[in-house]
Amino acid sequence: MILSPSLLSADFSRLGEEVQALEDAGITWLHLDVMDGEFVPNISFGATLISALRKRSRLFFDVHLMVENPRRYFRDFKEAGADLLVIHAEASEHLQLALSEIRALGLRSGLALNPDTDISRLRWLLPDIDLLMLMGVNPGFSGQRFIPQTLEKIRAAKSFLCEQKFASLPIEVDGGVNRVNAAAILEAGADILVSGSAFFKEASYHDALTFYESVALNSSQAKEFALSWKHQRPEQA
Ligand code: DX5
Ligand code: ZN
Repeated sequence: MILSPSLLSADFSRLGEEVQALEDAGITWLHLDVMDGEFVPNISFGATLISALRKRSRLFFDVHLMVENPRRYFRDFKEAGADLLVIHAEASEHLQLALSEIRALGLRSGLALNPDTDISRLRWLLPDIDLLMLMGVNPGFSGQRFIPQTLEKIRAAKSFLCEQKFASLPIEVDGGVNRVNAAAILEAGADILVSGSAFFKEASYHDALTFYESVALNSSQAKEFALSWKHQRPEQA
């Protein structure tokens, strides 16, 4: 299990300190929600902010592009220091091309599905993706409630991936994740949990991480998960 806190719920007046606190707590991934006001009805931040954070962080940057036609910006996010670019199936034409362009830049490619997008969209894209993201809420805002039928969708995705011989493709679940529903989400087959509002309300980021890790240890699905990617960038010389 990997916990990827969503920066959208951090204190924006002190982002540098927040990122430092995450690293000190043992967090390895940072979820960065980029919203364009078109694909979703909200605007967050873009490559400039990510680039500023990259200068002071070794975290694995999990960049979630809630952006129409994201191909225009892949290079900018690469230069800003992204490690993984997740694009939405609903926001791109020529998805296969877009995903292969992400990889051609030397980045990991992720595909996100909105709550009402069927997992059959994946069928012919499996060889081009490094990660599947299933939304637990309709994208656009943090602090929303987890949509319960997502659990069944995670289970369906997991068995579809097994059937297709892509059993080791990581599943990331984003939106509405908290201490109460984490066990069920992991048990359904999630490998990576994004948490925004619930995580940043925690008094201790370290204790929160320990909690999610212990839940994963008790989950039969999550126990088997091993991601071979580097979780953090090497120390700068
Ligand atoms: C929703 C974003 C999520 C969100 C998570 O559009 O993609 O990453 O910030 O926040 P919570 O955990 O509060 O739902
Ligand atoms: Zn997100």
